[in-house]
Amino acid sequence: MEKISCFAIVVPGLEGLVVDELNELSAHDVKQEQGGVSFEATMDTLFRINLRSRCATRFVIRLAVFKALTFPELYNKVRKISWQQYVADGVRVEVKASCHHSKLLHSGRAEQAVIDGIAASEAMQDHKAGKLVQQVMLRIDDNICTISLDTSGERLDRRGYRQYSGLAPLRETIAASILRWMDWKADEPLLTPMCGSGTFAIEAALVADKRAANLKRDFPFIHWPALKQKRWQRALEKAESMSSDVKPQIFATDLAAGLLDQAKQNAQHAGVSESIVFAQLDVRQLVVPDGVTRAGLIICNPPYGDRVKGDVRTLYKAIGQLFAEKFGGWRMAVIVPDQGCEHALGLPAKRRLKIKHGGKWVYLLEL
Ligand SMILES: C[S@@+](CC[C@H](N)C(=O)[O-])C[C@H]1O[C@@H](n2cnc3c(N)ncnc32)[C@H](O)[C@@H]1O
Repeated sequence: MEKISCFAIVVPGLEGLVVDELNELSAHDVKQEQGGVSFEATMDTLFRINLRSRCATRFVIRLAVFKALTFPELYNKVRKISWQQYVADGVRVEVKASCHHSKLLHSGRAEQAVIDGIAASEAMQDHKAGKLVQQVMLRIDDNICTISLDTSGERLDRRGYRQYSGLAPLRETIAASILRWMDWKADEPLLTPMCGSGTFAIEAALVADKRAANLKRDFPFIHWPALKQKRWQRALEKAESMSSDVKPQIFATDLAAGLLDQAKQNAQHAGVSESIVFAQLDVRQLVVPDGVTRAGLIICNPPYGDRVKGDVRTLYKAIGQLFAEKFGGWRMAVIVPDQGCEHALGLPAKRRLKIKHGGKWVYLLEL
């Protein structure tokens, strides 16, 4: 089967984790790049990647790369692409452009040139647009235009289970990437003592269950005229049949009773409530839960930032002390917003990862 040039759009900081994930999912020539990860894959592999990736935001395929110095040149080159393979009747094309260091710098005009070029292409003459949307991306860098086609539809972090979220919820893809960074496996007890909407606990339960992350999605490629229906059905059935009998020990606690109720409902929507034990608890009272006989992992995302008021450093200090005094042999990952909070923990970090969350850089520390 023909290999396609693909690109994973990724939350800044998570590129290395997506490289690992794509290699596991049998992508080829996987390379970390600015803003994401490039790779080669057959369409079958791309089906599997879209269904199973837990860490990437979306996957696009690169349809064409060419030089253009004028808008008519861009229009003419877009017109020659074989859009009939990808845009069925009833599908509306939306174009997003970004332009850097190039003669063509007006993104609005560049988008219009692509829309006009697609509409004027031979195969699209009698095309009627409808409700379904196919996104097309144009990136112009140093006068080189890359035209990409979205294959994921709605952002993959929107898994659909989180109908309720508290303050500063983490994207599901960030939570899943943090579990991967910590190399968490289903047989290791997991405590998430400031669970908020329950994202870490729910993502962990899905990992333990080996459940494909992105089932029941209306992927744009399902509507492509070029779709090989049987191959897609085969990939979907395989992903739907993935499961495991492992019973993980996952604990989700939070001070706020209301948030805890929301987290429970989210777990229910995700179909994993039986895998998680919920309890209302101040993090300062955290102890090794009954029934846990081996050391495990604690993941903390304490409150911080503009959305959360008050001095949070005393809380970081309490978390550091708690870990040092009551959790010998355990591993811990904590998200900190700045050096002040890191110092307040009072423990040296073994490793750190910088992640963009809610428009700001935060640091994930392994203690
Ligand atoms: C940044 S939010 C966590 C967000 C979560 N990761 C999510 O994706 O929804 C911080 C959480 O810490 C909880 N919290 C604040 N102080 C606490 C304390 N002393 N003990 C336990 N939880 C606390 C808040 O109720 C809030 O849910």
